[in-house]
Amino acid sequence: MTSPTPDPQAVCSPVTSSAIFIVASLNNGADVAQKVRGWCADIAGLTRSVGKRVPSGNLSCVCGFSANAWDLLFGQPRPASLHGFREFGVEGRRAVSTPGDILLHIRADQMDLCFELATQLMSALDGAVTVIDEVQGFRYFDMRSIIGFVDGTENPVGRKALDFTIVGDEDPSFSGGSYVLVQKYLHNMKAWNALSVEAQEKVIGRTKLSDIELDDAVKPSNSHSALTTITKDGEEVKILRDNMPFGRPGAGEFGTFFIGYARSPQPLEQMLENMFVGNPPGNYDRLLDFSTAVTGNLFFTPSADLLEDLAER
Ligand code: HEM
Repeated sequence: MTSPTPDPQAVCSPVTSSAIFIVASLNNGADVAQKVRGWCADIAGLTRSVGKRVPSGNLSCVCGFSANAWDLLFGQPRPASLHGFREFGVEGRRAVSTPGDILLHIRADQMDLCFELATQLMSALDGAVTVIDEVQGFRYFDMRSIIGFVDGTENPVGRKALDFTIVGDEDPSFSGGSYVLVQKYLHNMKAWNALSVEAQEKVIGRTKLSDIELDDAVKPSNSHSALTTITKDGEEVKILRDNMPFGRPGAGEFGTFFIGYARSPQPLEQMLENMFVGNPPGNYDRLLDFSTAVTGNLFFTPSADLLEDLAER
């Protein structure tokens, strides 16, 4: 009899209106590994303590580790497909790899909940990590990305969301886990807004107002939708995205924090290759003429059960 899949972290949690993304690096130091391992066992309790105060706020937290962090903190065994982020693209259009050992993806329907949990989690890590990047994301009008198109429509839901994101029997020691890719993008909104709506729709592959997929006869092969639709053995392979807009209008900064969960890094990397290199090579994603990736990391999020147990490693 096979044992049931351990409970995943809140990878497939419902869409929320706020999120905080923190990417941090491990500091050097004799007691760092022990401190972070102990912290792993506290994450669920801190999330309950903060979340209980506003039960309708849907607070959740997912914590992930890079390949480097896994080796330093937990050693063997290691998730079968975990490796450093692989760069894709050519000069001027590159999915860059940037430092980062730990990811926190905190979501809630109120920013105060995200803020309080981030504060508690970071205070418990005091001295053990250096924050590389921190983004407060917000949900824009009718689920639109900052470039004005509805984002997340083709996400898998329900059982399918779990099937596409949660590791199963293929890596029994790590079942219930998930791989997650994050990239922070900055957009050239002046250039984007200078395009007609029809031209923007050809870049995305969907209509702007009504969010309907363009007919195959008119959808360009270099549209974002065409290049991120991938198949294996004739079946479509999906990922689960929960991108968030962020920005500082006063500073002219407009961004998308991309986050994609999958059962293996393979579909995530295939999508990046199609977008940045092109499919066929050269037929790259037009969205990248208006968007620059300034960070890039791959993490593994252990199951909720394993996350607690890692403290004992
Ligand atoms: C520049 C940052 C990005 C923005 C603003 C963006 C925005 C969008 C929008 C508006 C859609 C159409 C609606 C939907 O189905 O969600 C979409 C679809 C999609 N995006 Fe992105 N995206 C970005 C980056 C990425 C990256 C880096 C990946 C993968 C590594 C990706 C994967 C996908 C997938 C799989 C779909 C669904 C395609 C389909 O089934 O039609 N996106 N994105």
